[in-house]
Amino acid sequence: MNVGLVGCGVIAHRYVEGSAAFPTFDVVACADLDAESGRAFAETHDLRFCTVDELVASRDLDVVLNLTPPAAHAALVSATLESGKHSYTEKPLAVSVDAGRTLVDQARLAGLRIGCAPDTFLGSAYETARLAIARGDIGEPIGATAQMLTGGPEGWHPNADFFYRAGGGPLLDIGPYYLTAMVSLLGPIASASGFATTPTVERTLAVGPRAGEAFGTEVPTHVAATLRFAGGALATMTVSFEARGRYESGLLVHGTEGSLSLPDANGFLGEVKLRADDSDWHSVVYESRGDMETRGLGLHELVESVRAGRPHRASGELALHVLETMHAIMRSAEEGSTVDVTPLREPSAAPA
Ligand SMILES: NC(=O)c1ccc[n+]([C@@H]2O[C@H](COP(=O)([O-])OP(=O)(O)OC[C@H]3O[C@@H](n4cnc5c(N)ncnc54)[C@H](O)[C@@H]3O)[C@@H](O)[C@H]2O)c1
Repeated sequence: MNVGLVGCGVIAHRYVEGSAAFPTFDVVACADLDAESGRAFAETHDLRFCTVDELVASRDLDVVLNLTPPAAHAALVSATLESGKHSYTEKPLAVSVDAGRTLVDQARLAGLRIGCAPDTFLGSAYETARLAIARGDIGEPIGATAQMLTGGPEGWHPNADFFYRAGGGPLLDIGPYYLTAMVSLLGPIASASGFATTPTVERTLAVGPRAGEAFGTEVPTHVAATLRFAGGALATMTVSFEARGRYESGLLVHGTEGSLSLPDANGFLGEVKLRADDSDWHSVVYESRGDMETRGLGLHELVESVRAGRPHRASGELALHVLETMHAIMRSAEEGSTVDVTPLREPSAAPA
């Protein structure tokens, strides 16, 4: 399929560079509100540059890859579907649950696909763990502990302020890595609760043309959540932009007969360790798919699924379930209650 990407920023370079590994799609065009940086990006990667409206209307494109900041996601996904194209968007699917639901309904009505990051759970490390759990290697899953603590992106990202607005914060920005992974491993989430704090209310951009610019945070920057899965497992997740100078990220899954230790869910590979009964941890050997262990794997799987007439895995429905869970955690933190999460909808297999 031919892909046009919108949002020629930091992550766009990674997608375009990684796309060479995938035989299923070619990135051929790009657009950005900032025409100057969009043109430079097009030149660097030998792509056709156009306006966003031209790109969405282009007849030679099958998929629009949405790499804009979260606040712009819903409008672009909707316009993409309206123009008869599949959409693959960076996370989160949308800022609000209502907007996310509207998009999933729109795609179903149009017979088109929405794919949504993260796709790291499709990487070989997490796939190995999923198969191990399905095989019964840890017995019946009883719970998990997930954590991703960083200092926040203002130290390395030139537009980091969007990570501190609605649609951002550690919960909506990095929460999707572990929530998506845990749903893939343990099934849908039934209810959630959480606490959220904002220890640092002002941040300063450290890099890029706006370096030195200070901005206020509009969303909590440290969140601890508890999750109850429909299958009975219980999990905790901590996500934070308050761990300055550190990067702590990993997942433990516990079962009645053993535990699995999984690497950073913001990656595709890494050591998977299994500990059964009272034995020591040992590495689970698995094969890497080489260059395909990179961002774009979810889009590759989407294209393969369209061709095969089956649902794809990094789906709009899954992303909506994760979005609903994140909002349930936030509501719980605000109200001091436990909040039920709408059941995960079965992904549809829209025709090619
Ligand atoms: N930076 C990362 O490491 C990273 C990793 C994973 C996912 N993401 C996700 O990718 C998305 C983009 O992040 P980024 O870091 O590349 O941001 P960025 O600020 O580097 O790039 C975003 C680009 O989108 C453009 N843009 C903004 N609004 C637009 C609109 N309405 N139409 C067209 N273009 C528009 C901006 O001009 C900018 O060039 C976000 O959803 C983010 O959560 C980023």
